[in-house]
Amino acid sequence: MKLGVNIDHIATLRNARGQNNPNLLRALKVCHHAKVDTLTVHLREDRRHIKDQDLLELKKNSKIPINLEMALTDEMIQIADKINPEFICLVPEKRNEITTEGGLNLNKISYPRLKKLLKISQKKNIQVSAFINPTKKMITLAKILGFDTVEIHTGPLDKKIIKKNIINKINEMIEYAYSKKLIVNVGHGLNFNNIKYIKKRRYVDTVHIGHFIISEAIFISLVKTIKTFRGLIKK
Ligand code: PXP
Repeated sequence: MKLGVNIDHIATLRNARGQNNPNLLRALKVCHHAKVDTLTVHLREDRRHIKDQDLLELKKNSKIPINLEMALTDEMIQIADKINPEFICLVPEKRNEITTEGGLNLNKISYPRLKKLLKISQKKNIQVSAFINPTKKMITLAKILGFDTVEIHTGPLDKKIIKKNIINKINEMIEYAYSKKLIVNVGHGLNFNNIKYIKKRRYVDTVHIGHFIISEAIFISLVKTIKTFRGLIKK
């Protein structure tokens, strides 16, 4: 399984101060160093974390393939056409949600817009994925609609008590999507504890993780940062 890291949360922290720290290009360097396989950025309609300029700069400077998460809107299609990310992941988007809440309902998307996006992506060799709930219906529809990739929503694994049927369903659907000759990614809510429940990983191309990696990084390096500062203020 390859690892895709979502750096939206670094932009959220940066935006809290309105300046340029933590800097996304510095984060990009770390990701290069750590040999991250894909870099995910979600350009939301309200630009609450990643801004248009971030996307431009990341694309310009990244040796890591960019996975652009986006809603299926005319504006985003235009931006994707201009930026040429290596991957696009279509996600549902609601203004007031804290994070992406559920999979995309492929019955309810605009098919003319999807057609437009797929035409661009075929011409430019961009892999297009749909972030969907783990159901046969959505996987089958993704295949019919011409997606080459699906990202199976693993959010239900991010619970205190994880039901066995949820684990089984996610793994069955990973295998089912693979059997339909789709590239299978997984993502959302994954962490050190629940990643073990992705049992069918031989069928998974990439796992996408954001919140946990960025928040865990605080604790991995907080002591070092405090010690460095203590050294600077010692008489
Ligand atoms: N995959 C998709 C499609 C997402 O929208 C997100 C959240 O931005 C993730 C993966 C990563 O989820 P998390 O931040 O919970 O690791």
